[in-house]
Amino acid sequence: MMKPLEGKHIILGITGGIAAYKSAMLLRLLIKKGAEVQVVITPSGKEFITPVTLSALSGKPVVSEFFTANTGEWHSHVDLGLWADLMVIAPCTASTLGKMANGIADNMLVTTYLSAKEHVMVAPAMDLDMWAHPSTQRNISTLIGDGVEIIEPGSGELASHLTGKGRMAEPEEIAARVEAWFAGEMKRDMEGRKVVITAGPTHERLDPVRYLGNDSTGKMGYSIAGECRKRGAEVVIVSGPVSVPVPEGVKCIKVESALEMLDGVRTQMEGADALIFTAAVADYRPAEVDSEKIKREKTPEMNLRLVANPDIAATISKSAPANTIKVGFALETGNALEYGRRKLETKGLDMIVVNSLEDAGAGFGTDTNKVTIIRKDGSEIAYPLKDKREVARDIVDNIVDQLT
Ligand code: CTP
Repeated sequence: MMKPLEGKHIILGITGGIAAYKSAMLLRLLIKKGAEVQVVITPSGKEFITPVTLSALSGKPVVSEFFTANTGEWHSHVDLGLWADLMVIAPCTASTLGKMANGIADNMLVTTYLSAKEHVMVAPAMDLDMWAHPSTQRNISTLIGDGVEIIEPGSGELASHLTGKGRMAEPEEIAARVEAWFAGEMKRDMEGRKVVITAGPTHERLDPVRYLGNDSTGKMGYSIAGECRKRGAEVVIVSGPVSVPVPEGVKCIKVESALEMLDGVRTQMEGADALIFTAAVADYRPAEVDSEKIKREKTPEMNLRLVANPDIAATISKSAPANTIKVGFALETGNALEYGRRKLETKGLDMIVVNSLEDAGAGFGTDTNKVTIIRKDGSEIAYPLKDKREVARDIVDNIVDQLT
């Protein structure tokens, strides 16, 4: 039988922390699961665990310096980055987190990280006060925004004999996360499915040069589109004006106003298995649109009369077939879950993704999001702060779960 990590190339980065002794066990687990592992260790990492142990377990010389002193052999961080399918840094000290977040490439490990094209996972390990320090937390948020996956430290007795959060996740947990990541990358569970997604803001015209709009970037909707496509679905985005690139293989219908967006969804929704409403639709539009630019001299004072736009999610959900999964979003400033539950009900959705603007890193213009997913079946899952691509994965997992 094929081992779960057969043929996978993993860089295991090790930094200078007491937990480095556990890296040997992690290395063994990864090798046992079939992976080929290249260890890259920082100079201070070598104070905690010897390269001899690591090279014996991995069957490869350990890389630590930019070149081997006696032979002058150059170790190319670029080649390493091209070779690897995944990079795992365990343990990762507060210092290395800071260097990664700020691009300080003063050793082979951080240089390799900066050259990495592959996914990167980090298992921090440090004393509880260092973990809780705003500087560390700021670096963690930056790294999550850069797409790094954080394997949260656990609570318990630390090397300092203090008790609290900061000890590295156990090797078994890290190895399981590695396996889950590869399994997720290979998922093709949306093959033969069709998904229609609304995304971005809408612009409601006042005159030929002015409009009412909002700050939505479209990133969340486009990430979900990319994830569905990767998993095999036919994907159509009905998108308001945004500047994010359309994921490969995804069809994009560009619209401006809420009325055009509603129209766009209607013409594309036939045969859809899932309808995902991520757009920040303007609730109102100007009652009159001037065909010419409104002139200041002619309009010393102005009252703008607005009329309500249709609720696209509610209108479409009520007319779509019952077995189509309808997904809405709710961005709230207070009582987020309460409002979320209500919107799920009133809009006739199967699932709603709630995020609160009160959470740092959630909402418009960020690369991260912190969501709670509420389903019609009553289940509610609160996820930690994640990169928007990972949030997209969680959302799509929940959709696939409900497809019939
Ligand atoms: N939505 C929509 N059409 C609208 C308004 C909202 O399709 N005219 C969708 C959004 O895409 C999102 C969900 O409905 O999936 C919730 O949007 P939100 O703006 O939070 O809801 P509203 O009903 O406008 O409520 P609020 O009064 O909080 O703005």
